[in-house]
Amino acid sequence: MTDEEKQDVAVEFGLNAVDPDYQSRGIGTLLYNGAVRIAKEYFNAQRVYSYIIRSKRNQIEWCLRQGFMDTGRLVSLPPEVQLQAKVDLDELKVSVLTKRLQ
Ligand SMILES: CC(C)(COP(=O)(O)OP(=O)(O)OC[C@H]1O[C@@H](n2cnc3c(N)ncnc32)[C@H](O)[C@@H]1OP(=O)(O)O)[C@@H](O)C(=O)NCCC(=O)NCCS
Repeated sequence: MTDEEKQDVAVEFGLNAVDPDYQSRGIGTLLYNGAVRIAKEYFNAQRVYSYIIRSKRNQIEWCLRQGFMDTGRLVSLPPEVQLQAKVDLDELKVSVLTKRLQ
Protein backbone atom coordinates (compact mmCIF):
# COMPACT_ATOMS: atom_id res chain seq x y z
CA MET A 1 0.00 0.00 0.00
CA THR A 2 1.36 3.46 -0.90
CA ASP A 3 1.82 6.20 1.75
CA GLU A 4 -0.98 8.23 0.09
CA GLU A 5 -3.33 5.25 0.33
CA LYS A 6 -2.44 4.73 4.01
CA GLN A 7 -3.45 8.31 4.88
CA ASP A 8 -6.88 8.18 3.24
CA VAL A 9 -10.13 7.18 4.90
CA ALA A 10 -11.20 4.38 2.58
CA VAL A 11 -14.21 2.19 1.87
CA GLU A 12 -13.99 -1.20 0.16
CA PHE A 13 -16.59 -2.60 -2.20
CA GLY A 14 -16.74 -6.38 -1.94
CA LEU A 15 -17.52 -8.74 -4.75
CA ASN A 16 -20.88 -7.68 -6.11
CA ALA A 17 -23.34 -9.39 -8.41
CA VAL A 18 -26.63 -8.75 -10.17
CA ASP A 19 -29.06 -11.62 -10.88
CA PRO A 20 -28.12 -12.91 -14.37
CA ASP A 21 -31.74 -12.42 -15.51
CA TYR A 22 -31.41 -8.69 -14.77
CA GLN A 23 -27.86 -7.94 -15.93
CA SER A 24 -27.01 -5.27 -18.55
CA ARG A 25 -29.96 -3.08 -17.52
CA GLY A 26 -28.01 -0.52 -15.51
CA ILE A 27 -28.43 -2.12 -12.06
CA GLY A 28 -24.66 -2.68 -11.54
CA THR A 29 -24.01 0.97 -12.38
CA LEU A 30 -26.73 2.08 -9.92
CA LEU A 31 -25.17 -0.18 -7.28
CA TYR A 32 -21.74 1.32 -7.90
CA ASN A 33 -22.99 4.95 -7.88
CA GLY A 34 -24.97 4.31 -4.68
CA ALA A 35 -21.95 2.73 -3.00
CA VAL A 36 -19.76 5.74 -3.89
CA ARG A 37 -22.41 8.15 -2.56
CA ILE A 38 -22.65 6.24 0.75
CA ALA A 39 -18.84 6.07 0.98
CA LYS A 40 -18.65 9.88 0.63
CA GLU A 41 -21.70 10.99 2.60
CA TYR A 42 -21.85 8.40 5.37
CA PHE A 43 -18.22 7.39 5.83
CA ASN A 44 -16.55 10.63 4.66
CA ALA A 45 -14.28 8.48 2.51
CA GLN A 46 -11.47 9.96 0.46
CA ARG A 47 -10.82 6.72 -1.40
CA VAL A 48 -12.67 3.61 -2.52
CA TYR A 49 -11.40 0.14 -3.32
CA SER A 50 -12.99 -2.36 -5.63
CA TYR A 51 -12.20 -6.08 -5.63
CA ILE A 52 -12.72 -7.90 -8.91
CA ILE A 53 -11.83 -11.47 -9.87
CA ARG A 54 -8.78 -11.05 -12.12
CA SER A 55 -10.22 -13.07 -15.01
CA LYS A 56 -13.18 -10.64 -15.31
CA ARG A 57 -11.31 -8.35 -17.68
CA ASN A 58 -14.40 -6.49 -18.92
CA GLN A 59 -15.32 -5.53 -15.35
CA ILE A 60 -11.76 -4.44 -14.53
CA GLU A 61 -11.76 -2.31 -17.69
CA TRP A 62 -15.16 -0.87 -16.73
CA CYS A 63 -13.68 0.19 -13.35
CA LEU A 64 -10.65 1.73 -15.09
CA ARG A 65 -13.11 3.77 -17.19
CA GLN A 66 -14.71 4.98 -13.92
CA GLY A 67 -11.33 6.41 -12.90
CA PHE A 68 -9.98 3.50 -10.82
CA MET A 69 -6.33 2.50 -11.04
CA ASP A 70 -5.13 -1.06 -10.75
CA THR A 71 -2.86 -1.32 -7.69
CA GLY A 72 -1.27 -4.46 -9.16
CA ARG A 73 -2.07 -6.22 -5.90
CA LEU A 74 -3.81 -9.59 -5.95
CA VAL A 75 -5.59 -11.20 -3.01
CA SER A 76 -6.96 -14.71 -2.59
CA LEU A 77 -10.58 -15.60 -1.94
CA PRO A 78 -11.27 -16.95 1.57
CA PRO A 79 -10.22 -20.64 2.00
CA GLU A 80 -13.84 -21.80 2.44
CA VAL A 81 -14.72 -20.37 -0.99
CA GLN A 82 -11.58 -21.86 -2.55
CA LEU A 83 -12.59 -25.32 -1.30
CA GLN A 84 -15.81 -25.14 -3.33
CA ALA A 85 -14.10 -23.84 -6.46
CA LYS A 86 -14.39 -25.90 -9.61
CA VAL A 87 -11.99 -23.72 -11.62
CA ASP A 88 -8.27 -22.95 -11.55
CA LEU A 89 -7.60 -21.22 -8.19
CA ASP A 90 -5.14 -18.85 -9.85
CA GLU A 91 -8.00 -17.52 -12.00
CA LEU A 92 -9.92 -16.80 -8.79
CA LYS A 93 -7.34 -14.34 -7.46
CA VAL A 94 -8.90 -10.94 -6.91
CA SER A 95 -7.45 -7.71 -8.34
CA VAL A 96 -7.44 -4.69 -6.04
CA LEU A 97 -8.40 -1.41 -7.76
CA THR A 98 -8.57 1.99 -6.13
CA LYS A 99 -9.90 5.45 -6.86
CA ARG A 100 -9.39 8.73 -5.01
CA LEU A 101 -12.74 10.49 -4.56
CA GLN A 102 -13.14 14.15 -5.59
C1 LIG B 1 -20.66 -6.92 -12.84
C2 LIG B 1 -22.17 -6.80 -12.67
C3 LIG B 1 -22.46 -6.58 -11.17
C4 LIG B 1 -22.66 -5.58 -13.47
O1 LIG B 1 -24.07 -5.46 -13.28
P1 LIG B 1 -25.04 -5.04 -14.50
O2 LIG B 1 -26.36 -4.72 -13.92
O3 LIG B 1 -24.99 -6.10 -15.55
O4 LIG B 1 -24.29 -3.73 -15.05
P2 LIG B 1 -24.83 -2.52 -15.95
O5 LIG B 1 -26.00 -2.98 -16.76
O6 LIG B 1 -25.02 -1.33 -15.08
O7 LIG B 1 -23.58 -2.20 -16.86
C5 LIG B 1 -23.02 -3.14 -17.70
C6 LIG B 1 -21.54 -2.86 -17.86
O8 LIG B 1 -20.93 -2.13 -16.76
C7 LIG B 1 -20.05 -2.98 -15.98
N1 LIG B 1 -20.38 -2.76 -14.56
C8 LIG B 1 -21.48 -2.14 -14.10
N2 LIG B 1 -21.47 -2.08 -12.75
C9 LIG B 1 -20.34 -2.68 -12.36
C10 LIG B 1 -19.77 -2.94 -11.07
N3 LIG B 1 -20.41 -2.56 -9.94
N4 LIG B 1 -18.59 -3.56 -10.99
C11 LIG B 1 -17.95 -3.94 -12.14
N5 LIG B 1 -18.46 -3.74 -13.40
C12 LIG B 1 -19.64 -3.11 -13.49
C13 LIG B 1 -20.36 -4.37 -16.47
O9 LIG B 1 -19.21 -5.20 -16.39
C14 LIG B 1 -20.74 -4.09 -17.92
O10 LIG B 1 -19.58 -3.81 -18.67
P3 LIG B 1 -19.48 -4.25 -20.20
O11 LIG B 1 -20.66 -3.63 -20.88
O12 LIG B 1 -18.14 -3.72 -20.62
O13 LIG B 1 -19.56 -5.76 -20.18
C15 LIG B 1 -22.91 -8.06 -13.24
O14 LIG B 1 -22.58 -8.24 -14.59
C16 LIG B 1 -22.61 -9.36 -12.48
O15 LIG B 1 -23.25 -9.64 -11.46
N6 LIG B 1 -21.66 -10.19 -12.97
C17 LIG B 1 -21.36 -11.48 -12.36
C18 LIG B 1 -20.64 -11.34 -11.04
C19 LIG B 1 -19.36 -10.58 -11.20
O16 LIG B 1 -18.59 -10.85 -12.12
N7 LIG B 1 -19.12 -9.61 -10.30
C20 LIG B 1 -17.93 -8.76 -10.34
C21 LIG B 1 -17.08 -8.88 -9.13
S1 LIG B 1 -16.00 -10.28 -9.19
